[in-house]
Amino acid sequence: MEIIIKKDAHEGSCAAARVIAGLVRRKPNAVIGLATGSTPLKLYNELIRLHKEEGIDFSEVTTFNLDEYIGLPAGHEQSYRRFMNENLFDHINIKTENTHVPDGMTADVSATCAAYEQAIVDAGGIDLQVLGIGSDGHVGFNEPTSSFASRTRIKTLTQQTVADNARFFDGDESKVPHHCITMGIGTIMDARMNIMLAFGANKAEAVADTVEGPVAAMMPASILQHHASAKVFIDEAAATDLKLADYYRWVYNGKPDWQKNA
Ligand code: GLP
Repeated sequence: MEIIIKKDAHEGSCAAARVIAGLVRRKPNAVIGLATGSTPLKLYNELIRLHKEEGIDFSEVTTFNLDEYIGLPAGHEQSYRRFMNENLFDHINIKTENTHVPDGMTADVSATCAAYEQAIVDAGGIDLQVLGIGSDGHVGFNEPTSSFASRTRIKTLTQQTVADNARFFDGDESKVPHHCITMGIGTIMDARMNIMLAFGANKAEAVADTVEGPVAAMMPASILQHHASAKVFIDEAAATDLKLADYYRWVYNGKPDWQKNA
């Protein structure tokens, strides 16, 4: 794993955006996995800026989102489809038909999940997957004890995740769906590169457990230790529990620019 500690969320997000922009320049028809939550918002703002000001072209890019709540129609203000449209897709030149978010209103969840997996395969697999992390270490909505071999499927949110995400639902936990469709950990691990973003002191413990703790299903993100190409972009606040923080800074600062943005 490569740990990149930046001063704040803005700098961390810009560094992650440079990696995505580099991929899209090298491979205009790249397949990119995307995440929701508050963490990637600055990353998406920077991608929009790079599109508008530096001409990054998303016209041949395909995207697959990690997850979606079950029972929220696409137009619901907290659906992840709407989140993606409003925070990224509506502001870049991506083709709507090339953007994929699991259908949380499907009548046949199993068939929808299998079709999602097949669509990723048909697109050639995910080149780069963006990840956030839940305070309990979940990635996508793969809660603790999720199988490391799991594929896209229905999951039940933990009570902690329901409580964490209630802030998006007027602070009312009863409004938060308890079920979702999420890519599995096996799906995420198949991506050719994973980049995780985590900012703020409330992520420090999960980041330390992910990077330096044992690989364990109780900390789903820790599986990234087994990924051949995983980068973790964090700010100083999220780095406070890392034992080897100085080493990660030393490694990163010693890299040539071409390698930093690769
Ligand atoms: C949700 C999403 C995750 C995200 C997590 C953290 O549960 N399904 O993909 O990483 O929230 O959210 P935030 O970035 O707002 O802390």
